Amino acid sequence: MAETRSDKLSDLLAQSERHATHKVKVGVCSGAGCRAMGSENVLSALAAEVERLNLSEKIKVFSAGCPGSCLQGPVVIIQPGDLFYQKVQSTDAPDIIKAADQGRVVERLLYHEPITDQALESLDDLPFFKHQERIVLKHSGTIDPTDIEDYIAVGGYESLVKAVTLMTPERVIDEVARSGLRGRGGAGYSVGEKWHQCREAVGRTKHIICNRSGLDGVVHQVLEGLIIGAYAVGASFGVVYLREQNQQAVTQMRAAIANANQFGLLGHNILDSGFSFDLEVFESSSAFIAGEETAMIAAIEGERAVPRVRPPYPSVEGLWGRPTLINNAETFANIGAIIEKGANWYKGIGTPGNPGTKVFSLTGNIKTGGQVELPLGTTIEKIVFEIGGGMLGDRNFKALHIGGPSGGSVPASALDMPLDYDTINASGAIVGTSDLSVLDECTCMVETVKDFMELMADESCGKCAPCRIGTQRMLEILTQVTNGQGSLDDLARLETLAGVVKTSSLCGLGKTAPNPVLTALKHFRDEFEAHIKHQKCAAARCPTLVKAPCSHTCPAKVDAPSYIALVALGRYEEAIAVHRERNPFPSICGRVCHHPCETRCRRGLLDEPIAIALVKRFMSDHAPAVHPRFPRDPENRKHRVAVIGAGPAGLTCAYYLALVGYDVTVLEALSTAGGMMKVGIPDFRLPEDIINKEIEAIVDAGVKIETRRMLGRDFTIDGLIADGYEAVFLGTGAHQGNNMGLPKESDLAGVIDGATFLRRANLGESVEVGRRTVVIGGGNVAIDAARTAIRLGAQNVKILYRRTVAEMPAYEWDIREAREEDIEFEFLVSPVGFEEENGILSGVKCRRMVLGARDDQGRRRPQPVKGSDYIEEADMVIAAIGQSPALDYLPDESELASSRGRLSVADETMMSEQPGVFGGGDAVSGPASVVEAVAHGQKAAIAVEKYISGRSLIDQQLQVAEERRVEPLQEKKIKAAGNNRRHPPEVEPEKRKSDFSEVVLALDEEQALGEAARCLRCDLDED
Ligand SMILES: Cc1cc2nc3c(=O)[nH]c(=O)nc-3n(C[C@H](O)[C@H](O)[C@H](O)COP(=O)(O)OP(=O)(O)OC[C@H]3O[C@@H](n4cnc5c(N)ncnc54)[C@H](O)[C@@H]3O)c2cc1C
Ligand SMILES: Cc1cc2nc3c(=O)[nH]c(=O)nc-3n(C[C@H](O)[C@H](O)[C@H](O)COP(=O)(O)O)c2cc1C
Ligand code: SF4
Ligand code: SF4
Ligand code: FES
Repeated sequence: MAETRSDKLSDLLAQSERHATHKVKVGVCSGAGCRAMGSENVLSALAAEVERLNLSEKIKVFSAGCPGSCLQGPVVIIQPGDLFYQKVQSTDAPDIIKAADQGRVVERLLYHEPITDQALESLDDLPFFKHQERIVLKHSGTIDPTDIEDYIAVGGYESLVKAVTLMTPERVIDEVARSGLRGRGGAGYSVGEKWHQCREAVGRTKHIICNRSGLDGVVHQVLEGLIIGAYAVGASFGVVYLREQNQQAVTQMRAAIANANQFGLLGHNILDSGFSFDLEVFESSSAFIAGEETAMIAAIEGERAVPRVRPPYPSVEGLWGRPTLINNAETFANIGAIIEKGANWYKGIGTPGNPGTKVFSLTGNIKTGGQVELPLGTTIEKIVFEIGGGMLGDRNFKALHIGGPSGGSVPASALDMPLDYDTINASGAIVGTSDLSVLDECTCMVETVKDFMELMADESCGKCAPCRIGTQRMLEILTQVTNGQGSLDDLARLETLAGVVKTSSLCGLGKTAPNPVLTALKHFRDEFEAHIKHQKCAAARCPTLVKAPCSHTCPAKVDAPSYIALVALGRYEEAIAVHRERNPFPSICGRVCHHPCETRCRRGLLDEPIAIALVKRFMSDHAPAVHPRFPRDPENRKHRVAVIGAGPAGLTCAYYLALVGYDVTVLEALSTAGGMMKVGIPDFRLPEDIINKEIEAIVDAGVKIETRRMLGRDFTIDGLIADGYEAVFLGTGAHQGNNMGLPKESDLAGVIDGATFLRRANLGESVEVGRRTVVIGGGNVAIDAARTAIRLGAQNVKILYRRTVAEMPAYEWDIREAREEDIEFEFLVSPVGFEEENGILSGVKCRRMVLGARDDQGRRRPQPVKGSDYIEEADMVIAAIGQSPALDYLPDESELASSRGRLSVADETMMSEQPGVFGGGDAVSGPASVVEAVAHGQKAAIAVEKYISGRSLIDQQLQVAEERRVEPLQEKKIKAAGNNRRHPPEVEPEKRKSDFSEVVLALDEEQALGEAARCLRCDLDED
């Protein structure tokens, strides 16, 4: 039988004495990530240990390629078994070698499942690897990339043997074309077509170039594909184009070329096939543009690396004017597998138009990142939440930026989007650099886009004007926007410029540079507008706009760094006054605020955010309600202002107007002031005496409150104006419970809406609760109603919600507390009717749901499951599916009401169509929060002042306060505070379920001062 070439490779391998004698192989990742974390020391320590124990015959320690899990480095992979060790230190070497010698595992170095803490041994079991399909990276991490024998031992170069000995060049091209492989260098052009063009091109001498990629560790695999490519197109000379900065890649490739020459796989008459091919490495400068194929050719030819017009394409006229095949290294790394297993096998992976896998670099605000290889068509959701392990710090997913500085971003509503060339291009992004950067809610899209544009403007080679000037101009505009100095016209200008640069630039750099801007403007326009209109950066990132992330994120802009610093210094009364200059409810907000300030707190990037709300609660419980000093004009006393509704919006507006001297009266329909703080939020979260204390302080500032005075019933807006009130503020909230639209909902006894139920309970009216109470809804009102029902004696309380817990709008701490109080939850269920026996409610007819397509916010819409109806037994149903403002005090067709049934006011002034009539709080925004109502109240107070007097003393004072600088705490006190966030005590669930006393208790003084001392004082200038 004739000797096959494969036998020949085996012979080559067998001749090598070094190979295959080791029973255990210990690969230490030599990728850039692991090297940065000390993998070279780990390698030396492991090798020394093997030497010390005289185990060199049995155990081979070697430098491996990057397996991809770069955030877990330094990584060590042991054969047999693909045993995966992470975060290895050189001090672990003795344990690792001893265990390897004895066939054991060092458990502490294994990956542990975050929830179950189960240790996973093999690389393939890890979530990061389990969902990948590895063709290109198959051996990365498990063999020595520089050792040709290692590669041959795992089947390497078999495809080259097959191609050059058993296949004609045309058959090779045909196989590659039928596989549907598309170029992995960014544009996704058909590889088969390019190879065919090059083969057909006129000219006896042809060349081949392998363009750089982020791939390390698969050097022989790239080489094998490259030699096959050269054979297919008929190239006699080739260049591997690498970045000179990546000296490891350069050294590895040079060594691999030398090895391949030694083994007869390169050079003259390769494997006796008659095909000869020589290869060299070219080290390129770092410029991004030098990766563009025509610029690259210029660089290899010794010219300046600038692109030229195409056509002619390099496959027809390339290096030194000769036909030149240019493919990316990853493209070549796929060729061996296609030749070995065939086009049909390859086409079975990925999607019809996008076969195969793609290597991406997964980075950003994600738990596990690195290099991942995925079938094309894998959804973003799978990549982020299964492979990447979900968002870092459990923050919300905001966007995926695909393709690096000239790529584009897609929002949360695109989580189901499959990643393939066509879908990515259609989204406005490109595969580009193959980077997938996961962005969370703390990312400012304007800043991100600006940074990308800066890079592109820098990288523009300057040859053509649209790119050279256009990128600069776009950068200038973006810089103005991040500084809060842009205009809305700038956005239109940006779009026009982006269009021009895209269509009229010479090369791919200019044509793609506007992508980030265009996609961000498409999906995140409101962020650009907020920077322009309100100087607001929701992510609290843009330095010119953000003094400190906490105060910037607070809707009322409370100066948190100053009052936290004053608490740390023990100056509680000053701290209270600072808080009250922007929010007169520190005690209340210290208990019920959803504290967006904490989600952006910079300390959270180090360990845990400052417990801002708890510090605030401590200070306000420990000092009297000191008023801030505002300039007061005695003339203001002549001006009368009426405020309708004594909720936080109305009371805040009244308070600040009173502080600067206005004569303000609050008219409230109920028997008590406080609004939803009093009649919505239950006492176990917000005790009545706390609310009363803060309202008393408002009265103390000069505000008059008249209860049982209802607009529409007892008086009218026009009547107030006729009575001499110069301005009216409407802060009437959103108290009308929404209807579920089910038959008999309003007539059947035992069915009640959440807002009414809580109002009655909070006002001490007698409220009967059912034995089995069912609450419908997923927000705060549902949770508060359920917890109130259990305290009023219901034996069993169940919340039905149509989505899952992950989508519940209720605060996550309230959900936890409710669960602790034995409240049951049933998810993916929606009510469709009521059951009754003899006119008495006996149950809710429910329908099961599944989550379907996503809405604009990225939340999946619930869809009914056919035939899934069932009865949930109930003798009381509380429907908590939202509230709306009750605007029946307005005349029909009033211009003051919007089509959404809310008060309509101008964003800037809070004034309605009717001069002198202002509005704010839930009545304008719909159900929101106390602090948002406070923010509206303050903004309206300033607008009322300007309306009446043409100036605002409140505003003046707030400007002065901006300049305040509280001195920093002594270093030793900061150190003594330590790193850990303080947690408040809570009353035991069994105890608290039986009454309405407060569940979450306060920090003690030592805890509060320690917590305050953790603050990084982001407000202080760096100098
Ligand atoms: C159950 C529940 C729990 C909540 N939990 C929280 C929480 O934990 N944290 C948080 O920040 N927010 C919470 N909220 C939301 C928060 O209470 C409201 O967003 C906030 O109180 C709105 O303030 P407002 O001043 O706009 O309206 P309201 O507080 O609703 O005040 C409006 C006032 O106007 C009065 N009024 C209405 N119509 C008239 C009329 N025609 N004439 C005269 N007076 C009238 C009402 O009686 C009421 O007193 C909760 C709300 C509810 C219902
Ligand atoms: C500015 C710019 C930079 C580029 N950089 C690279 C690069 O680093 N590596 C690469 O393979 N292709 C890069 N390309 C794409 C190449 O021009 C070329 O399309 C690619 O190497 C062809 O290989 P493929 O068909 O296998 O994808 C770049 C293109 C542009 C416009
Ligand atoms: S588009 Fe930009 S990078 Fe490309 S040739 Fe023109 S100036 Fe140079
Ligand atoms: S560290 Fe302090 S100043 Fe900085 S964001 Fe957090 S609370 Fe604010
Ligand atoms: S650099 Fe070591 S796993 Fe990637």
